[in-house]
Amino acid sequence: MTTPARRHTRLLRVDPERPGGAAIAEAAAVLRAGGLVAFPTETVYGLGANARCETAIAGVFAAKGRPADNPLIVHTADAAAAQDLAERWPEAARRAAAAFWPGPLTVVVPARPGLPRSVTAGLPTVALRVPDHPVAHALLAAAGVPVAAPSANRSGRPSPTRAEHVWDDLRDRVDLIVDGGPVGIGVESTVLDVSADRPVLLRPGGVSLEALRAVLGEVEVDPAALALPGSGQVEPGAAVRSPGMKYRHYAPRCPAVLVEGKPEARARRLANLAADYAAQGLRVGIIATEEGAAAVGPGQERAAARGNVLVRITGPRARSDLYAARLFEVLRELERLGCDVILMEGIDTAGIGLAVMNRLRRAAGFRVVQAGEGDDGP
Ligand code: TXA
Ligand code: MG
Repeated sequence: MTTPARRHTRLLRVDPERPGGAAIAEAAAVLRAGGLVAFPTETVYGLGANARCETAIAGVFAAKGRPADNPLIVHTADAAAAQDLAERWPEAARRAAAAFWPGPLTVVVPARPGLPRSVTAGLPTVALRVPDHPVAHALLAAAGVPVAAPSANRSGRPSPTRAEHVWDDLRDRVDLIVDGGPVGIGVESTVLDVSADRPVLLRPGGVSLEALRAVLGEVEVDPAALALPGSGQVEPGAAVRSPGMKYRHYAPRCPAVLVEGKPEARARRLANLAADYAAQGLRVGIIATEEGAAAVGPGQERAAARGNVLVRITGPRARSDLYAARLFEVLRELERLGCDVILMEGIDTAGIGLAVMNRLRRAAGFRVVQAGEGDDGP
């Protein structure tokens, strides 16, 4: 991995409702010239580079500290431009693109030769996405080149949902940050491999598995997409369909623990763990639903009064979309506030909940507590 060149990072504010004008033209020119431009998409902020320019791509890997064997998603303004980069456009790609583009879906298809090898990490396939964000769309249209864009965080860190997060991770490492305000979805795109006979979900994200199945029929789920305990430990060099899924990801600087199980049991376990850690003099961060946080309340009053328990509420338990939208932001916030440990409440895996649980398990580095019957009583 090369040391990143020191760059002077400029911030450009763009009105997400009415992007365009000088700022977008300038950002597009920087991209075309091989520079690094972070920009908002509907999922998370991306770190963009001209996908046809080898040195620009090398800059992306260096700026992020990203392992060279983890390929990038290539973004285009429309489906026709995406299709130009594919060797074949399978029927499943056609249907998925028609249903979900522009939007938070990435399709993996056979790659047409021509892109630098580093974009696809030498794989015979390429990952393609047409984002649904006015700033991303305006920028891609103005740039007129395909743009490779991983999430704009340092490798392994929580993905950025605000320009400030990009600044914290990548200042002096990128040329430009286009600030279009906070993003909407908050977790990355769904990655779907349609290069073989049957579609395979490689990474759950903004488009739910249920929605994919409604359009495509059968969709297999790669074990790494579930991020079940054990699936994180892949032997070095072992074949992985989604290379990105083998790395530690989304992790705050302090340890994080995920509490799974039935709602009541998990809320009680969360409360007990928080009390134990606080009693040890540790500063405890909690990420929980409204219902989960209610259980944490009374027992922690004294610890909370001493400032040792910081609770961040994502929303009602039924709103996994709000959990998605808040997760990366509160992880970064609790870390910044000096938490020694962060406890995170698990949620149901329906809908976007599957993507949230994937991110939670990885953020916890697979430190997962299964709350059970012993946690039920008061
Ligand atoms: O929402 C998103 O997808 C964001 C925004 C910026 O568009 N981007 C993003 O990129 O999340 P990144 O690099 O953080 O994640 C890309 C994922 C990784 O897990 C990578 O391994 C996988 O896509 N990927 C890329 N090319 C692939 C390929 N040819 N085959 C299988 N997986 C691939
Ligand atoms: Mg990423």
